[in-house]
Amino acid sequence: MLRYAHIVGWGKYLPEKVLTNDDIALLVNTTDEWIRSRTGIRRRHVADENESVATMGFEAARRALATADIHPQEVDMIIVATSTAVHAFPSAASLVQNYLGAQSASAFDLGAACSGFVYGMGMASQAIATGFVNTAVIIGSETMSRVLDWNDRGTCILFGDGAGAVVLRGSSVPGGVMATSLGSDGSGADMLKLPTVYRNAVPTMPSSFYKNGADVNTISMNGRQVFRFAIKIIAESVLETVESAGLTMDDVALIIPHQANTRIIEMAAKRLEIPVDTFYLNVDKVANTSAASIPIALADAVENGRLHPDDNVVFVGFGGGLSWGSSIVKWAASRPMEDRSDTRWERARYAAARARSRVRQLSRQMDAIRAAEEYEE
Ligand code: COA
Repeated sequence: MLRYAHIVGWGKYLPEKVLTNDDIALLVNTTDEWIRSRTGIRRRHVADENESVATMGFEAARRALATADIHPQEVDMIIVATSTAVHAFPSAASLVQNYLGAQSASAFDLGAACSGFVYGMGMASQAIATGFVNTAVIIGSETMSRVLDWNDRGTCILFGDGAGAVVLRGSSVPGGVMATSLGSDGSGADMLKLPTVYRNAVPTMPSSFYKNGADVNTISMNGRQVFRFAIKIIAESVLETVESAGLTMDDVALIIPHQANTRIIEMAAKRLEIPVDTFYLNVDKVANTSAASIPIALADAVENGRLHPDDNVVFVGFGGGLSWGSSIVKWAASRPMEDRSDTRWERARYAAARARSRVRQLSRQMDAIRAAEEYEE
């Protein structure tokens, strides 16, 4: 029997440090007025040196699990959508799994740039529909501040750091994720780029090994082309998904888009012939947090009372690849009466997870000592 994947939990984490447009104007030749009028952005959060995609992802995930009132050991799958994890491996998802103590969960990172969260929702909802898993945590988490050229006023004004997460759970009650459409066009790869391997990263490497190496691992972008692509693809992707769910735009209560630029959204709304306030926007406060932007905006939208039971909400992402995707969800959850996160019980649960992880590390070390002794005998 087909299962329905419902969103039962949501959470976000934003680093404490805030960078305003005026702060950026001290670094590059720009003004608050220019940034606000071209992008709608007023400020962004920036991770401190002890924070990472994994630590922020954990914070968002634990809040999402608390809202859902679900124990981490019930989680079957953890997906972290990101382009800025500290390691290629271990995945940030494996680290989050360890911090949560989600011992039954598989975990992997997903790379689809700013569309990553919607891709993750697509993968997890299909896994739930077929009965492969029952409970999945999908996280978007990014430290964009670490991949920006802070001398390039065309890009450093646009991005911010943070994480958001949802819990998807299988149910026999119809609703939840009703349709998803995903797309990619690699012919536009040059329009938005973040190299991960750079020249001379390994001084001992023979030069013939790194013919494809880039000079720096910072974002480069053709802003105008990305702007045009975004407007077109938001409209096309939203329509495709809404139609494949057998609905029309009149049935859509709210669209939560990837938060890149207010002007992009205004023009997409025009193209779709819908009021701009059908779109939920918080780009003014957080800037573009890439894969994290949709789940952060979702948590904000719920907090601000913008979602009600039975609303049809559309998520739409677009970005590097080029990649894009959208999904339509029948909203069933209501806001919990009390804040279930950061209670004494919750803190004790994660302290216990850390202790269990340490015990497993120690027992592996003991095994290694015993194995070495047996080898010598
Ligand atoms: N402050 C002041 N001036 C700036 C500036 C800044 N931060 N950035 C660029 N400019 C200048 C340019 O140098 C240029 O000056 P010139 O005319 O003297 O050469 C002028 O402003 C216009 O530049 P342009 O790049 O054409 O501006 P724009 O109107 O296209 O706005 C973006 C630039 C980046 C804001 C806009 O293209 C954009 O938002 N694109 C989409 C980017 C995006 O969202 N990417 C992520 C998608 S996931």
